[in-house]
Parts: sequence; C-alpha cells; structure tokens
Amino acid sequence: MESSTARLWTEQDRHKGDRHRLFTAVGDAIQADTVLYPGSYVDVAASFVFPSVTYVDVDRRAERFFRDRQGVAEIIASSRADEGQADFSFIAADYRLDLGLEDESFDLLVSLYAGFISEHCTRYLRVGGHLLVNPSHGDVAMASIDSRYRLVAVVQSRSGSYQVKDSGLDSYLVPKKPEPLTVERLHELGRGVAYTKSAFAYLFQRVS
Ligand SMILES: C[S@@+](CC[C@H](N)C(=O)[O-])C[C@H]1O[C@@H](n2cnc3c(N)ncnc32)[C@H](O)[C@@H]1O
Repeated sequence: MESSTARLWTEQDRHKGDRHRLFTAVGDAIQADTVLYPGSYVDVAASFVFPSVTYVDVDRRAERFFRDRQGVAEIIASSRADEGQADFSFIAADYRLDLGLEDESFDLLVSLYAGFISEHCTRYLRVGGHLLVNPSHGDVAMASIDSRYRLVAVVQSRSGSYQVKDSGLDSYLVPKKPEPLTVERLHELGRGVAYTKSAFAYLFQRVS
C-alpha cells in the first residue's frame, strides 16, 4: 500500500517533474549549498538538486510528511542525479517568527506561493546569496523595493522547461500602473503588481 508520505508527494508533484526542472535550472545558474525554503509545504524537490535544505511550514500535513524521515529520504534519493542522500530538516513554525536559525547562514532563500517571505526571512540569507521568488503572492514586488536586493536574473518558463536569463533585466519589474510601491501598500494589496513584462520567477541577490 502507498504510504501517506508518498501520496502527499505524488499530489504535490502532479505536474510531474516540474519543480525538479525549476530547481535544476536555478542550481545550474547559481552556486548554493544551503537552502532555506519557508512555506515549502511538501515540495521536497529542492533536495533533488541542493545538498542541504531547511524546510519551514505551519501546515500539519507538512509536519507529518517530514516526520517520516525515511520516506522523505527515499523520495529524495530516487530523484537525485547521484541517487545519494541530501541533508534536510523541517521546522514546524510560522516563518514570520524567529526560526532559531543563524542570521546570514543560507546561500539561497526560496519564496514560492507562500507570502512575503523576503520581508521576514532575508535575515537568514548571507550577503551575496540569492532569493528565488515568484510573483503570485506579492513577494517579487516586496523584494523589488527592498534595498538589500538587486535583480540579477529572471526564470522563464516555456512548455514545462525553465531558462535562467541575466540579460535585458531593465525591461522587467516595470509596473503597468505607475503607483508608489511601499511595504504598507503591498500588505494592503496582499498580492503582486502587474508588470509590463513578466517572468515565471526572479532571482535577486542580497547585496547588503
Ligand atoms: C500554496 S502553498 C505553496 C507550497 C510550496 N511553496 C509550493 O510552491 O508548492 C503555501 C504554503 O505556505 C505555508 N505558509 C503560509 N504562510 C506561512 C507562514 N507564515 N509560516 C509558515 N508557513 C506558511 C502554508 O502552510 C502552505 O503550506
């Protein structure tokens, strides 16, 4: 019988291999050993590519999933190119609170469909490290007005494959409706802003 861990992963991976392809493209473009993934739910595909990932979520199902360390390790090993093990941990917590992690200790911060992660978790990202963020919950807009970040690449998606592109960046992050963006305004909106040209996701580098 299929375990609940395997079932949760199958549900998560319903666009089969999609996240694996995304993280592979990002892993080919940047150097990252340690990854922090707040609001991960059970998206363990980050561990298919990166050697050490810390997952964070408040959802009970995610907590149960990661408690089955053997089951999660098997999912990871079956999809890693080296068929080996990667180091992973899970923190059952609200990422807006102190996660008990060392500041500036991660190479990559992941923010996918889970709110204003850059606002609360940039402290854990080392200067020089990267933020992978998609626009759906407004976190791209939040990072774009955060002076600690500089846009260094965009991730384009075409028929299920991903390309990381670092040219022509000036044409991105241009709002369709010019209005002053502030942290307060983005909280009020609770979502992203429309851009004249958009990408699936964005890579920012922490510069200060
Ligand atoms: C839509 S899911 C996205 C999951 C995953 N990032 C993905 O892209 O497949 C959003 C997840 O973020 C989690 N989340 C939202 N706010 C959170 C918070 N403040 N602290 C921790 N987890 C949070 C939810 O519990 C949920 O599992």
